[in-house]
Amino acid sequence: VARAVVVVAAGSGTRLAQGAPKAFVEVAGRSILERSLDSIFATSEPMQVVVVVPLAMLAPSRLLVSRVAGPARDHVAVVVGGASRQASVAAGLREIVPSVETVLVHDCARPFTPAAQFELVASTVERTGHGVVPGLPVSDTIKRVSATAEVVETVDRSELVAMQTPQGFPRAALDAAYSAAEAEHTDDAALFAARGHRVIVVEGDPVAFKITTPWDLRRAETIARADAD
Ligand code: C5P
Repeated sequence: VARAVVVVAAGSGTRLAQGAPKAFVEVAGRSILERSLDSIFATSEPMQVVVVVPLAMLAPSRLLVSRVAGPARDHVAVVVGGASRQASVAAGLREIVPSVETVLVHDCARPFTPAAQFELVASTVERTGHGVVPGLPVSDTIKRVSATAEVVETVDRSELVAMQTPQGFPRAALDAAYSAAEAEHTDDAALFAARGHRVIVVEGDPVAFKITTPWDLRRAETIARADAD
């Protein structure tokens, strides 16, 4: 395979407050992790899939993956993550097989990300050689605020884009950037750009939103039920 996707699912999901790590919370009867894998398996080209989970969920995750992967077109591995998202991605990258040239990094917490978004990001990496991030225009007015909650200024919204995943990269450059990274970066694109590489934006999709809060979970339930009809 020439493409791999690292699905990070090793977060605790504390803000979701569901009593289970987020990836294992169910949305209309199926876990967030299963739903994320559905989109990935629906892409048109084979990919190596590396799922990164908390240590306590390793055995149940392997069971789940063997159940959903079926007669595997995509090779799926499950590994244990780290204390930060960045450490979890690094653990996933170590599992990628030598033939892979394009790596996508995807938040498991975005289970409705369309297969087309994975394909767009991967093909844009392959066409340009740059890092690629899906983004959406920001619809709220954004203000910079001081530590004392005083409004400092309004930020020009036309210059802002909200980031989604999967974020895609040429494999060799991403591996080198991860090896060199000392600080924690807010996302993979920031870590990649810190090495002097270019990152370009392609159009994301509102349905690829990240499930973070209980309110997001309700939105997810609504979408899952509508899809099932
Ligand atoms: O916490 P947040 O929602 O920003 O996490 C984004 C993604 O990173 C989630 O899919 C989460 O499971 C993953 N993550 C991880 N390892 C961590 C922290 C977060 O895999 N230590």
